[in-house]
Amino acid sequence: MTFESDFAPKLVELARNRIPPAPTVTNKDGEESLLLKTTIKAVSELHIGLLTECLELVDLNLSEYYTSIEGPDWKVDKLQEMKEDGLVYCMFHSSLTGKPVAFFSFMVTIEEGENVVYLFEIHVSPKWQNAKLGTRLLEYVSDITRSLSCGFPDIAGIMLTVFPENRALGWYFKNGFTFASHSPRDKTLRFGKVLKPDYYLLFKNVDPR
Ligand SMILES: CC(C)(COP(=O)(O)OP(=O)(O)OC[C@H]1O[C@@H](n2cnc3c(N)ncnc32)[C@H](O)[C@@H]1OP(=O)(O)O)[C@@H](O)C(=O)NCCC(=O)NCCS
Repeated sequence: MTFESDFAPKLVELARNRIPPAPTVTNKDGEESLLLKTTIKAVSELHIGLLTECLELVDLNLSEYYTSIEGPDWKVDKLQEMKEDGLVYCMFHSSLTGKPVAFFSFMVTIEEGENVVYLFEIHVSPKWQNAKLGTRLLEYVSDITRSLSCGFPDIAGIMLTVFPENRALGWYFKNGFTFASHSPRDKTLRFGKVLKPDYYLLFKNVDPR
């Protein structure tokens, strides 16, 4: 048992209490609505088929980026990373086609001596992006973090990693995240050239209600 896996059953229970089993999403122009089916499981209980579906969403969204950084076999390492002990997956499937529309994965971990809810992945399938589903998923994460804080007063907030090139960076700022105090930062070199780090760490404080 690790510190992270200790929390997984509690996170699953909280997520099942907080996330509706059948949320809906309506696209930006209001023309199409979809009923979703929620599945919440600890990674230790997650069938490899479901994990592979999550990997396929990552592939749809970020394959160009990962291929450029890690080469064509990036999915092998990614799948290994997605199996990390203690992770909890919240998946949202189309009730019409059964296909995955979105998912996020998270765990409780210790960063710089503080307990945080670490958001590992958050993905919405391209067809349903910009329909506020991602924002709703972030609200679920905040809600779970907030309710965790009631039992564990030392949960500091939500943390995540984002690549400087990812347009989600602006979206996280828009949703209340800021640079974590220990995040790598841009360096301005002589002649004004800006050197970006490999990744940023973002943090959002979630006040208990
Ligand atoms: C990032 C992601 C989860 C956002 O989910 P989403 O459902 O598309 O986002 P939402 O519909 O909730 O939010 C869209 C809003 O954010 C705004 N937005 C989108 N990108 C933005 C950016 N880079 N900067 C500022 N605002 C941004 C949109 O303009 C829109 O605002 P509006 O509704 O006022 O017009 C989704 O786009 C995604 O899956 N991206 C690919 C995977 C990814 O990069 N995940 C993060 C890994 S770290």
